[in-house]
Amino acid sequence: MSDETRSGAKPAGYQGTKPKKSSDGRGARIAAARGVMGVIGQKLALDVALSKAHTYDDLTARDRAFARLIAATTLRRLAQLDAAVGQHLSRQPAPFAMAVLLTGAAQLIYLDTPVHAAVGESVAALKSSKDRNDVNAAGMVNAILRKVADTGKADAAKIPVAKNLPEWLRKSWTRAYGEEAVTKIAEQITQSPPLDLSLRNKDEAEKWAEEIGAQVLPTRTVRKADIGNIVGLPGFHDGAWWVQDIAAALPVNILGDLTGKTALDMCAAPGGKTLQLAAAGAQVTALDRSEHRLLKVKDNLERTGLSAKCIAVDAGKWRGVRDHDFDIVLLDAPCSATGTLRRRPDVAYTKAPKDVESLTAVQDRLLLAAARQVKPGGTLVYCTCSLQPAEGEQRILSFLKMRPDFRLNPILTLGKAGEAMGVTPQGWLRALPHMLSDKGGMDGFFTAQLIRDV
Ligand SMILES: C[S@@+](CC[C@H](N)C(=O)[O-])C[C@H]1O[C@@H](n2cnc3c(N)ncnc32)[C@H](O)[C@@H]1O
Repeated sequence: MSDETRSGAKPAGYQGTKPKKSSDGRGARIAAARGVMGVIGQKLALDVALSKAHTYDDLTARDRAFARLIAATTLRRLAQLDAAVGQHLSRQPAPFAMAVLLTGAAQLIYLDTPVHAAVGESVAALKSSKDRNDVNAAGMVNAILRKVADTGKADAAKIPVAKNLPEWLRKSWTRAYGEEAVTKIAEQITQSPPLDLSLRNKDEAEKWAEEIGAQVLPTRTVRKADIGNIVGLPGFHDGAWWVQDIAAALPVNILGDLTGKTALDMCAAPGGKTLQLAAAGAQVTALDRSEHRLLKVKDNLERTGLSAKCIAVDAGKWRGVRDHDFDIVLLDAPCSATGTLRRRPDVAYTKAPKDVESLTAVQDRLLLAAARQVKPGGTLVYCTCSLQPAEGEQRILSFLKMRPDFRLNPILTLGKAGEAMGVTPQGWLRALPHMLSDKGGMDGFFTAQLIRDV
């Protein structure tokens, strides 16, 4: 699995006596299974759940990436995997054995892992457990995974891909976007996402695309097909770019050149939009409630050589020197993040309808606070990475009722490309994951641009 196995030669930069880590296929499978259990059972974010697995710290970077891929694929395809495995089960196994079965099936059906590795390492993972129930399940898991190797692809294909979505999401998206769109969204989010980069200087898009081995998308986001080792890519240490999905870049991209303007980024961390605002020429004030997350904004500013004034504060309570002081106020509000499922498959298991309900109250409060900061004639941009209309369209319609001194300013600056990325006849942007699918899709995002009366 790994190309990092020890050889006699010392690698460049070798400084200590600690041996270089070698590949650990069994440890990767244990981490993947524990990761899936942590997400489904404890509602942990996938990266947190993986890092809690006892084998994870000792894995090579490549094995960690493999563990994450197995776990993410399992979460993305859970209903299909459940069907492929479930028909061979006579009774429900203990949780770890079930997780090993599902992650083993994910390797066999979707990752083209050789049968001997997928089955052998899964069985070894169980045999190494301290729990006798897991060790005793090894024979059963071996037998079932061998059957899955034979018929699993066909069995899984009988289950519609949308069934992998939790029922509440499937229903709410069907109401909002229709059944056909939901199938396309569900297809798109089973795929591993590409790596999208926003540039400090958009005129250099072609140059960096060539150096990185990437393509330039319509709004000059640079897209590399696979994520890989980000810090090793050309331009990272020069601060020429930062990682940001094309959809997440749209709320600032619609604003164009901001030279000489003041901008307030109300929920700034980790800083993608703060960097865009600064790169577009604005004088930026960046707020975030989390001091810890704001450190990431500062790191990104330092790396890219851009500047913004960063303040750790509840944006709903913050008052500047005076009210109505900003040309641009951007509210990238905290939300359920259901638009980011292909990057964060855990969101399907960690979020529930009650979260959306409580988040909409936060969004309303922050929208009213944002309105207080906009200059007469200034612009308020509201966005969320949610596919829930309650966190997008409905928030704006309700805000406009409360603040008749604001009106919707239709998004026109993206032209034809805007339609392909979700600009609607109403003039707001409703990006859906299967848009730009010929280029690898995009995150789901909502954006509305409002103008305050003079
Ligand atoms: C969707 S993320 C923002 C992403 C960011 N705009 C970007 O482009 O990188 C939401 C952020 O809102 C912050 N947040 C949540 N509630 C807040 C509040 N009341 N005031 C300020 N920040 C808040 C969270 O800490 C989180 O960093």
